[in-house]
Amino acid sequence: MSINTEEFYSILASKMEGSVIREILKLVQNPEVVSLAGGMPDPATFPVEDIKKITQKVLSKNSARALQYSTTEGLPELRRCILDYLAKDGNNGELENIIISSGSQQGLDLVGKVFLNPGDIAIVELPSYLAALNAFHSYGGELAGVPMDDEGMQMDILEEKLTQLKNEGKKVKFIYTISNFQNPAGVTMSLARRKKIIEIAHKFNVFIVEDNPYEKLRFEGEPIPSIYSLDNNGFVLSLGTFSKILCPGLRLAWVLGNKDIISKMAILKQATDLCTSILTQIIAYEYCKSGKLEENIRSNIQIYKRKRDVILNALDKYFPQEVTWTKPQGGFFVVATLPEYIDTGEMFKEAIEEKVAYVPGGPFFADGKGKNTMRLSFCYPSVEDIDEGIKRLGKVIKKRIKN
Ligand SMILES: Cc1ncc(COP(=O)(O)O)c(C=O)c1O
Repeated sequence: MSINTEEFYSILASKMEGSVIREILKLVQNPEVVSLAGGMPDPATFPVEDIKKITQKVLSKNSARALQYSTTEGLPELRRCILDYLAKDGNNGELENIIISSGSQQGLDLVGKVFLNPGDIAIVELPSYLAALNAFHSYGGELAGVPMDDEGMQMDILEEKLTQLKNEGKKVKFIYTISNFQNPAGVTMSLARRKKIIEIAHKFNVFIVEDNPYEKLRFEGEPIPSIYSLDNNGFVLSLGTFSKILCPGLRLAWVLGNKDIISKMAILKQATDLCTSILTQIIAYEYCKSGKLEENIRSNIQIYKRKRDVILNALDKYFPQEVTWTKPQGGFFVVATLPEYIDTGEMFKEAIEEKVAYVPGGPFFADGKGKNTMRLSFCYPSVEDIDEGIKRLGKVIKKRIKN
């Protein structure tokens, strides 16, 4: 006897396919392959000894609380700590404005859950973070893409798109943007565009979801105020995470914004996981209280800046002149654009034969374009591997270039 699982799937489960990135990561298990594919933080940035000490202390002094259930909104002292940290950059809020989530990925899922009915529209950047697109899709949301240039999302096109969708009677619920060192493009939205996007959101009466995991990982240039800090009308939800500044294994992040939306998120989160792990929340709280977070961020910046320099140098050295790429001032990613006639999805097999991996750009584009682009992550591999990986990839691309 066997059961035909296909017959039992919900419409959603039948529709959803595994992420391309996860499939690729399976292919690159071979240790000889240099992977520029995954966006994992460098383990050298994890403060292992501090976390060990704190965990031991928490479990010996406070185990009854640390191993118990907790409130859905999250530990008040951790929320307060995050609020103080965010307020330093003008991102103000009270306890009722913040909820702890199990990673920003859960925050994105809650955004989809709170806002999207089947057929509702989420505006996204072209390209954008694949797992966010999947989260929005999973609630039946439709995605409308707006292209970016080196100042981020193009506001004239955004305005045209919103006008067009309104005329078609479509309901746009929010604009999703990764304002700093975008995943995948590495691009940062300029101050003028941040002000403009708020103006547009007010005019068309839509929310802005500002996903900001990389903001603190700035290697050079002046920090730009967040969109959240520039808006005084509760139109912006800001997502932040400990994943890139501390470690992703704690699965801790937050959503800051309009108190009504936050309280709705708490209700919806109950159906998902009741609460985020209180053990990891206490650990993160103790870590933040010790004042070491800022120090850890400073040392992370040194590590990632060096890697960014190495990848940009290697791209100059090994990539053919027909290829262009973004030059991020922070974060984890570069996007390279190849001549139109090269499909990076098709080329992937050749790259694996040459023992190098990347993520083909197509899936990041909600409009089905971008097949000639690729995401290159410089966060995880060693500096030697980054240089070697780009060298191998340069060889693969050169074979495809038409004279
Ligand atoms: C833009 C963006 N948003 C959200 C996430 C999810 O992060 P978390 O580990 O907090 O779930 C990532 C992770 O790579 C990301 O790049």
